[in-house]
Amino acid sequence: MKNIAIFASGGGSNARKIIEHFQESAIGRVVLVVSNKKDAGVLDIAREHNIPTYILQRPLFYETKEILPVLQDHAVDLIVLAGFLWLVPGYLVQAFPRKIVNIHPALLPQFGGKGMYGGHVHAAVKAAGVNVSGITIHFANEHYDEGDIIFQTSCSLNETDTPETIARKVLALEHEHYPRVIEGMLRGV
Ligand code: GAR
Repeated sequence: MKNIAIFASGGGSNARKIIEHFQESAIGRVVLVVSNKKDAGVLDIAREHNIPTYILQRPLFYETKEILPVLQDHAVDLIVLAGFLWLVPGYLVQAFPRKIVNIHPALLPQFGGKGMYGGHVHAAVKAAGVNVSGITIHFANEHYDEGDIIFQTSCSLNETDTPETIARKVLALEHEHYPRVIEGMLRGV
């Protein structure tokens, strides 16, 4: 059984899908939810499922390695970023080589990088007038939205789409694919 830690900053709809997927799995389970926001919705989801939580504080996260023993205590094998908006520090990437995965709500390498998160991504996609968007699941490193791509899938857009409708289409793809792509990775961890 492999142990997953989810890092998330927001409402946590992906975290919920992942937690619930692995409740039924013999391959892995979510053992820890980490957030940089003490009032993030994802923490309520963790508590609902009796999963321990941990709150990051910026100086400690970047200037010390305080998170490493926490991850060790929970015997974490894989870190899953699900709407986690802070950059992953280099020491964490080195401690978990190719064991940190991120989801991005667009088709990288387009529409990625610093400041490209959530609604900003979908607004940029709309402004570019492209007729597809989608999701990218990739290994995370210490740069925003770089790292080898593991999986991508797309949805078609039309002129009537707004950033809000694009967000809904993309989120549906995330919910459909992220848990099973993680499960596939765990089989190889
Ligand atoms: C997701 O759409 C995820 O792709 C995005 O934040 C959302 C979190 O939603 N992540 C990024 O933009 C990272 N650059 P959720 O809290 O409902 O899972």
